[in-house]
Amino acid sequence: MPESIPVLTPSPSSAAKTGAGGWIVRPDILNPIPFEALFGNANPVELELGAGDGSFIARHAAEHPACNFLAIERLLGRLRKIDRKARVQGLTNLRGMRIEAGYLLERMMSPGSVSAIHVYFPDPWPKRRHWKHRLIQPAFATFAHAALADGGVVYLRTDHTGYFEQMLEVFAQASGFEPILAPAALLANQTDFERDFNAQGIPTQVATYRKSSAPGSCIPRS
Ligand SMILES: C[S@@+](CC[C@H](N)C(=O)[O-])C[C@H]1O[C@@H](n2cnc3c(N)ncnc32)[C@H](O)[C@@H]1O
Repeated sequence: MPESIPVLTPSPSSAAKTGAGGWIVRPDILNPIPFEALFGNANPVELELGAGDGSFIARHAAEHPACNFLAIERLLGRLRKIDRKARVQGLTNLRGMRIEAGYLLERMMSPGSVSAIHVYFPDPWPKRRHWKHRLIQPAFATFAHAALADGGVVYLRTDHTGYFEQMLEVFAQASGFEPILAPAALLANQTDFERDFNAQGIPTQVATYRKSSAPGSCIPRS
């Protein structure tokens, strides 16, 4: 990981609002994320990787006040929109972090520390020579499995048929996951990209996988 990874200092306004360092938190790239200190409680934590403008995660956080949510996004402008949504809605259970999602999953997660990982419309890298840049690779399943608590769930959505096939293949080969159906209430919470694609007649393709069988997610099972 390059040492020049960009970090973002909490804005004074958001820091003042939460009293806990703001909605956008500076990543400590050398240590696991201390979720309890970050949120000020031990509630279950869910991640969204590549959260975009945060429409999904802000609604999800508002619907599940007894859980905590960390939105991961590499683009500063999008992260600022997440920060704005969280501030406007007073969402004390939502934080944003500017960091590369693969690095975060591999290097910054304590084992069994999250109850769900949401990955919606990740960049498809359509050219074959770029497929290596796709987030959902065999290593993703390995690190997601380690980061999830028993019963934790990986939620995937995409518009891209080729990438969807890769997602299915990755999780078919991965051990320790079982395919499940995503709850209808969760699917009703559409992302910004999803709405745009659906408006163009491009359907959402959904895949969902649960780690082993114990409870752990905030989201009721279907
Ligand atoms: C196609 S957009 C989808 C955004 C959102 N999930 C949605 O469905 O509306 C993909 C998002 O992932 C972010 N992203 C792509 N690769 C990333 C990475 N490796 N780490 C963190 N964010 C990433 C992009 O900046 C972008 O905001």
